[in-house]
Amino acid sequence: MSLDTQTLTAATDRRNRPGVRPAPPGHGGAVRARSGVDRWIRPAKIGVFVAALYPLARIVLFGLTDRLGANPIEFITRSTGLWTLVFLCITLAVTPLRRMTGVNAVIRFRRMLGLYAFFYATLHFTTYIWFDKWFNVAEVLKDIGKRPFITVGFAAFVLLIPLAATSPKAALRKLGRRWQTLHRAVYAIAVLAILHFWWMKAGKHDLILPKLYGAIVIALLGWRVAFWVGGKLADRRRMAVVRDRTTR
Ligand code: HEM
Repeated sequence: MSLDTQTLTAATDRRNRPGVRPAPPGHGGAVRARSGVDRWIRPAKIGVFVAALYPLARIVLFGLTDRLGANPIEFITRSTGLWTLVFLCITLAVTPLRRMTGVNAVIRFRRMLGLYAFFYATLHFTTYIWFDKWFNVAEVLKDIGKRPFITVGFAAFVLLIPLAATSPKAALRKLGRRWQTLHRAVYAIAVLAILHFWWMKAGKHDLILPKLYGAIVIALLGWRVAFWVGGKLADRRRMAVVRDRTTR
């Protein structure tokens, strides 16, 4: 199901929930009483927003207390890179979680989580381009062309930009179906991120974490494929029943 449809379904579900009073007559349905979900969603969103700042706070705290280790730039690059991947995985897990638990409200955290992935990716890239390359564009381009792990990391970052730029609700309304097609790029981004991590660690003969995150991404993508195939089969069965009834 598309995100537009999901958003609509979630909105309908919220409206039909027992705790939601219908709008008073004369308001044309525009005024909607706040449901129980609406009441906890705001504090929960603030909680998630603050919690997601933990990786940044940790870097700042370690920096202030001289605990970034012998190579602070490497520490910051690796930390922001890993947290980008963590937020990408959490963002990808939102829809499966919603389907498995039936809690539609989790979808309302997805945009924030996706934007945090972009935020940490930007910090990651900025650390590299600033402290590793001192804004030497020629050096950066050479690196992108020469080192495959940088090439795929850069591709993942470039693909993230249009997703972040079109994350506001206004963009969703304006783009319609094209929004959903565009945002499917998140799967390609996750695969590129794993390749980036894998290639980087392969040189160091330390593939434990890339294998772990690779398995998480494969499971999340596999769930999507299984859900899509299940939907198609259910559609086919429904069509067969309708055909059966009309020919009888
Ligand atoms: C979505 C985009 C990206 C993700 C998810 C990502 C993720 C990661 C991860 C997980 C690591 C390893 C962290 C660790 O060692 O624990 C890493 C390291 C690194 N990444 Fe990225 N990255 C991305 C984009 C980029 C870009 C655009 C660049 C630069 C053009 C880049 C340059 C690097 C460098 C230089 C390292 C450290 C290599 C080392 O310490 O030897 N990454 N990244």
